[in-house]
Amino acid sequence: MWGEVFALSSKHSGLVDHSTISISTLADRLPAGAGLIITSGDGVSERPSGVPITAGAATWDILDPAMEDPQLLSGYGDDRYDVLYAEDVLQTLPRLSVALANWTRVVRPGGAMVLTVPQGCDGKAASWRFTMQDPAVADGSVNLLELLRVICHLAEVEYVALMPGTPDSRAASANGSDPERMPKDAPEGFHRRIEVLLRKRPHPLTPVQSNDAPEIQMLVKLTEAAIAARAQWQTMEEFEAILASGVRDATVVDLSRLYLLYQWLLTTLRLPGDCIEIGSFRGGTAKLISETLLRRQAGGELHLFDTFAGMPDRLSLDEAGLKGCFADTSVAEVRRLLANNPHVHLHPGIFPDTIPPGLHDHCFRFAHIDVDIESSVHDCLAFVYPRLLPGGVMVIDDYGHAECPGATRAAERFFADRPETIVQMPLVSSAVVIKSA
Ligand SMILES: C[S@@+](CC[C@H](N)C(=O)[O-])C[C@H]1O[C@@H](n2cnc3c(N)ncnc32)[C@H](O)[C@@H]1O
Repeated sequence: MWGEVFALSSKHSGLVDHSTISISTLADRLPAGAGLIITSGDGVSERPSGVPITAGAATWDILDPAMEDPQLLSGYGDDRYDVLYAEDVLQTLPRLSVALANWTRVVRPGGAMVLTVPQGCDGKAASWRFTMQDPAVADGSVNLLELLRVICHLAEVEYVALMPGTPDSRAASANGSDPERMPKDAPEGFHRRIEVLLRKRPHPLTPVQSNDAPEIQMLVKLTEAAIAARAQWQTMEEFEAILASGVRDATVVDLSRLYLLYQWLLTTLRLPGDCIEIGSFRGGTAKLISETLLRRQAGGELHLFDTFAGMPDRLSLDEAGLKGCFADTSVAEVRRLLANNPHVHLHPGIFPDTIPPGLHDHCFRFAHIDVDIESSVHDCLAFVYPRLLPGGVMVIDDYGHAECPGATRAAERFFADRPETIVQMPLVSSAVVIKSA
């Protein structure tokens, strides 16, 4: 069988190379072994043809009231299955990226995920209409290739193919038509399907795909234009020099957030106290803070916290997309980047376990919390907030970010009964809190 393939992945976390391949070999591409079949209870996919699930096949019927949320697969351990097969289920689920991340979670590294969805609208239960080449325009319409970006740091896309349709094509076949030869503008009632084959990566890549999103690209361009316009009446050399000091190569944070971080830090320089960042990764935003403090000859220390070895395992169920991420850094690398500032202190390990006893008595003028996940954001707020000076500023990264729902939950819960207001910065996915007097 030939399919029209719209995207093959490269080794990187992008979708590239549009071409046509034979996908007659689905079975050859899949490892045999334990499989998880996620069905919508219509019996269609009880044993998918071409999928060599030979042993230990489990079925998760999303319509079975005894089963829990198929987006979370709670109770299903990590790295457990050789193959996961989900036929015509995704379009019925409300949180697509959560489902994809958890389905990837239960597949072993090197294992395969086969997904099929109807092209366009199919069935009463569908929450989403999937498109391939068209941008998502209408409400409830999702461009599948763009959606796959949210997990391409976890799994490589081997192909995305537009297939002859089922099950309506079976009806066509029964009527004497050959479903293989059905034209693209097939008669009403004939639905084509999109089939995706993904292979779980041995180790997650650093997730940077949200920076490639069109709205972030546009925001970066607008920020560049705003900085250029401001340069007409105020020198922007300091900010440009700070960016060039090693910040850009060591951060996953886009220009608009870097610019805001810099400006919020400047508002606090007249206050006493230290600065703190939790979530430094390769040290990019830490370098921005450090260079600003050096250039403005501001007093105080800068305390930096990170595992410097990847995201801790304290993940909520809808945070599976962050499992094992950000491991490609090291304390030595970050120490080298910040070696020109003697007031910088690195605290490697899982926060809050790594807080030195002496730091409990310190006050902070500025805090950058960039830890992505619910438990960490909560722990950061619990430590920083009582030590933040009146007028001091806390920048909470990832607030409002669709792929970091826990960060928003933790911040909302923490400030629910406190006098401060969380000020959301739309599109940049972060928020600011200024400590009240
Ligand atoms: C998005 S990255 C930080 C990005 C960084 N600010 C930059 O400039 O690119 C999030 C970091 O938070 C760290 N992290 C999350 N929870 C943590 C915790 N409880 N303790 C230490 N590090 C944590 C992860 O290890 C990861 O490196």
